Amino acid sequence: MRILITAGGTREYIDPVRFISNASSGRMGYALARAALRAGHKVTLITAPASQRPPGTANIVKVETTARMFEAVKKYFGRCDCLIMAAAVADYTPEKPAKNKIKKTSEHLSIKLKPTPDILKWAGRHKKKNQIVVGFALEDRAVHIRAEEKLNQKNLDMIIANTPAAIGAEKSSVQIKSPDSSWSKIENAAKATISKKIIRLIEKLHQVSLK
Ligand code: CTP
Repeated sequence: MRILITAGGTREYIDPVRFISNASSGRMGYALARAALRAGHKVTLITAPASQRPPGTANIVKVETTARMFEAVKKYFGRCDCLIMAAAVADYTPEKPAKNKIKKTSEHLSIKLKPTPDILKWAGRHKKKNQIVVGFALEDRAVHIRAEEKLNQKNLDMIIANTPAAIGAEKSSVQIKSPDSSWSKIENAAKATISKKIIRLIEKLHQVSLK
């Protein structure tokens, strides 16, 4: 399969030197890329800043902002069999980023934010028959209910639910669901182990979609 994977945490600039981002290390997305390559797939990894070294045999596309990640996903999506959105995408971006470095004053400072495009939702809406779209759901409450809402609302083939403890961590616990399957759990496992299982599940979904 040709698998498109996003990873890392996107950055939204407030001014030329400051940005809003999150604590994503990129570990999960990079582990997925490695597992997919090991299983013999072709991988394009669209990566926002991450603390990991990218796997040498993947096609690496470096981006910083959500807007650039969206452009890159749009460019490669048509040619892939599967998209895995493992990136921690910023939900908001400054409405009017300052052209020059903002000067400090003694006043309070408010920054108005506007929503970013939902890349995963776009992919779910534009996927063709046989294309598999996989998303993550980071939830701290009502995990099953909220993750299942994302699975349905974003028209996904698989959702991987995790909790804020997963961000930046070596190990993770995830729960996985597809429209036609019940929840399955992988508890306190290395992200490499989780990734191997996810790639295997995706291969099965892809085989079913080709029938
Ligand atoms: N995602 C995306 N584009 C965004 C925001 C999120 O493609 N602008 C993707 C993420 O990569 C992830 C999935 O959507 O695969 C769910 O992200 P999550 O942060 O859990 O949920 P949101 O849809 O952003 O909703 P909320 O933050 O309100 O839970």
